[in-house]
Amino acid sequence: MKVSKIRNGIVIDHILAGNALTVLKILGIDSSYENTVSTIMNSKSEKVGKKDIVKIENRELDKKELDMISLISDSATVNIIKNYEVIEKYDVEIPDVIENVLICTNPGCVSNHELVSTRFYLESKTPIKLRCHYCERLISGLKFK
Ligand code: CTP
Ligand code: ZN
Repeated sequence: MKVSKIRNGIVIDHILAGNALTVLKILGIDSSYENTVSTIMNSKSEKVGKKDIVKIENRELDKKELDMISLISDSATVNIIKNYEVIEKYDVEIPDVIENVLICTNPGCVSNHELVSTRFYLESKTPIKLRCHYCERLISGLKFK
């Protein structure tokens, strides 16, 4: 399948196959977004076998937000498009502090009972290990808000 190039916006390429929709969720893009959003799943890639691609038109996001994609796909690359040209390209990086996108997997954690924004600290990248600021436990698996 061919998906056309975009004029302005963001292309997130080399997403681990199967994760395009989670990427949209992480970025807070849902049906209320008014511009075109294209998701390409299981695109064939020589480098990585199969990959997903997400194209979000007319949207600017800061690097901090885009870096959250690394939680599910370390291999993702962000391309900023202006007037059809790739004007910036970078690999996502796992941040040391992850704020507000994940839920603590400890049911007793105060962050699951009070209106606070969640916060986790990165303890290991591979495998990914995150410690909750509130209950100080390592979380088991990633649950997105
Ligand atoms: N792209 C797009 N619209 C544009 C320019 C690029 O949708 N106006 C998309 C391309 O389809 C590709 C990604 O943005 O998925 C990166 O573009 P480019 O750097 O030109 O491609 P590659 O060189 O293949 O990228 P890489 O080296 O990162 O694999
Ligand atoms: Zn917790």
